[in-house]
Amino acid sequence: MFIEVKGAKKIYGKGESEVRALDGASLSLEEGGLYVILGPSGSGKSTLLNMLGGLDHLDGGNLEIGGVKVSGMSDKQLVEYRRSDVGFVFQFYNLIPDLTVRENIQVVADITKEPLNVDEVMEAVDVKKYEHHFPSELSGGQQQRVSIARAIVKNPKILLCDELTGALDSKSAKTVLKFVESVNRKFHTTVIIITHNEAIAQMADRIIRIKDGQVSSNEANPAKRAAKDVEL
Ligand SMILES: Nc1ncnc2c1ncn2[C@@H]1O[C@H](COP(=O)(O)OP(=O)(O)O)[C@@H](O)[C@H]1O
Ligand SMILES: [Mg+2]
Repeated sequence: MFIEVKGAKKIYGKGESEVRALDGASLSLEEGGLYVILGPSGSGKSTLLNMLGGLDHLDGGNLEIGGVKVSGMSDKQLVEYRRSDVGFVFQFYNLIPDLTVRENIQVVADITKEPLNVDEVMEAVDVKKYEHHFPSELSGGQQQRVSIARAIVKNPKILLCDELTGALDSKSAKTVLKFVESVNRKFHTTVIIITHNEAIAQMADRIIRIKDGQVSSNEANPAKRAAKDVEL
């Protein structure tokens, strides 16, 4: 499998204040799919995504992506892994306010060995028409599409999305999800979306549920819908 997580543990705090954010989570996923991870607030979704993205070290267990063992990497190796293999999209857009849309994407392309074409990426998420605008001139949904472009211009192996529609109204959310879906199809990027919004799972190839720091189910979605038909 492309993604192999085995018995992942992450513990915050010590003694009485100890929190087992991941408590033996295991997960296998194939390359190129679109996956949605569901779970209540505090169940460990963000922690799992951060580990997949090499933002932090595990306290136990193993994590492999594309045959590369990410758990056990040094800090320096993790920086390189994040830079070349992972695209992140968060709830808030994290764009650089003083740079235009094109420049926000170009700065990431400039530090990447084999970036995708900036124009092609802007077209893929339909932001080319705003290329000379600044983030503050765009709506939340438009800014989130620029964040997706920033994340994918480095042609990452995986695109990790943490509550990416959490701050958007349902119409903008749907548009953003439509473009995530088209990125998955067009660039064959493996996409993982974490959310507490059950409706988003309609567009997944597989639906993964997290409870108390463990994966409680990982099932194929028999009724996959196009993002445009998802009822948010
Ligand atoms: N940096 C941290 N320090 C202490 N506790 C944390 C930290 N990050 C997460 N936690 C705790 O770990 C648990 C899982 O958090 P998280 O992965 O953010 O859950 P979710 O994304 O599903 O809401 C929660 O109880 C949270 O309070
Ligand atoms: Mg979270």
